[in-house]
Formats: sequence, structure tokens, C-alpha cells
Amino acid sequence: MHKNGLQIAIDGPASAGKSTVAKLIAKKFSYVYCDTGAMYRSVTLKAMRNNIPLTDEARIMKMMKHTDISFAPGKPQQKVFIDGHEVTNAIRSEAVTNSVSTVAALLDVRKDLSNRQREIAENGGIVMDGRDIGTTVLPHAEVKIFLVASVQERAKRRFKDNAQKGIHTPIKKLAHEIEVRDYKDSHRKISPLTQAKDAIRIDTTHVSIQGVVDKIAEIIDKKLK
Ligand code: DC
Repeated sequence: MHKNGLQIAIDGPASAGKSTVAKLIAKKFSYVYCDTGAMYRSVTLKAMRNNIPLTDEARIMKMMKHTDISFAPGKPQQKVFIDGHEVTNAIRSEAVTNSVSTVAALLDVRKDLSNRQREIAENGGIVMDGRDIGTTVLPHAEVKIFLVASVQERAKRRFKDNAQKGIHTPIKKLAHEIEVRDYKDSHRKISPLTQAKDAIRIDTTHVSIQGVVDKIAEIIDKKLK
């Protein structure tokens, strides 16, 4: 156990419910929540705003030397800042969502963000969600969860989320975008999306959010005994 508690890694494909569940678990145990996807999104957004081609790793790395990414509590979601400017909504735009896999495939970007994530998690008491937390960022995390759900179900969830924001993309298009992102995330050379050997797999397709939270809380309670 670390100074502030356990390290809890929640990985899985896009829209499997990771952030919703991770936030609720963090609240339940009074742990800090860290959304690592938001960090990849922030780098992508800043590169786009600076007209840096997303495959130009040298320029992106130069930019990252002067890039601060921070979080602050907020409702309904945690606030995200790049260099002190709020980007909570901007990093969720369709343009960023559909481009972030390109940036997430760059080795040095991954190394840099993984180091920042390890620093955040150093003292434990953290719930971190992403794609490679249990395999690469925190290979010694005491609790590792791998959340999955069918593509159809994930597209439905994204559709509902979007509708709340006034965005009306057809489910079919969302399902296609999810499949494309899954493919890119699982087939990249560095830290592809894979389940850690010691991770517990939970299929959330037919389980309520509360059902998933209860299951994970039970796993955490056992570790805390
Ligand atoms: O979870 P999300 O949709 O916000 O993630 C955005 C992108 O970042 C996604 O395409 C995968 C990538 N990502 C990653 O490669 N590693 C992480 N630890 C988190 C996200």
C-alpha cells in the first residue's frame, strides 16, 4: 500500500464506461481520479491549435516541453487545463476525438505522458483510467480492471452522451468511429490496448453502472482488508 492508499487502474476500449465508473469509485473511496485520455486529448488539441501536423513527433515533443496539463474538481466532470486555460469541452470535440489516436501512437509522447501519470499516482489513493495503465503506466497497481462492452452498446452510450450536449450524430456513424478507434488503439506498436494478465475483465454490456461500481468496490474492499 502507498502513502495515500491503493493504485487502481481501469483500462478498456472507448466508451466502455471507464470514466463514469472510475469517478464513482474515486468518490466512494475518497481517492483522486485521473483521466489519462484527457491528457492525450490535451496534447492533440494544443498541437492542432498550433498547426503542428499530428505525425510530427519532433515538433510535438518540443511543444510538450512547455505544456502544462492540470485538473481541477468540477461538475459534472473534472475540469482540464492546458497552460492554465480551461479546455474541458474543447478536448471532447469531434475533431480531437477523431485525431487523438494518431498522437497516442507516438512513442515519445507516450513516454512523457506516462511519466507524468506515474508522478500523479506515486503516493497511491488514485483511480486512473486509460488504455495502458495496468500494463505500462502502473504495472504494480494493486487493483487492475479491464472494462469491455459491445460496439453497439458503446455507440448507444455515446449517442446518449452526445444528445445531452445537443450533438446528433447517427448511431451507425458512432459505431463506425468506435470501431476505427478500437482498431488503432489495439494495433499501435507502442503500448497497444491489451488486458494486463492480472486484470479482472468486466463486461458492462448488460450491467448497470451501479452494478459495475459494486463489483469493483468489492474487489477493492478485499485488497484493503
Ligand atoms: O479515453 P479517451 O477516449 O478520452 O481517450 C482518448 C484517446 O487517447 C484514445 O484514442 C486512446 C488514447 N489513450 C491512450 O492511448 N492511452 C491512455 N492511457 C489513454 C488514452
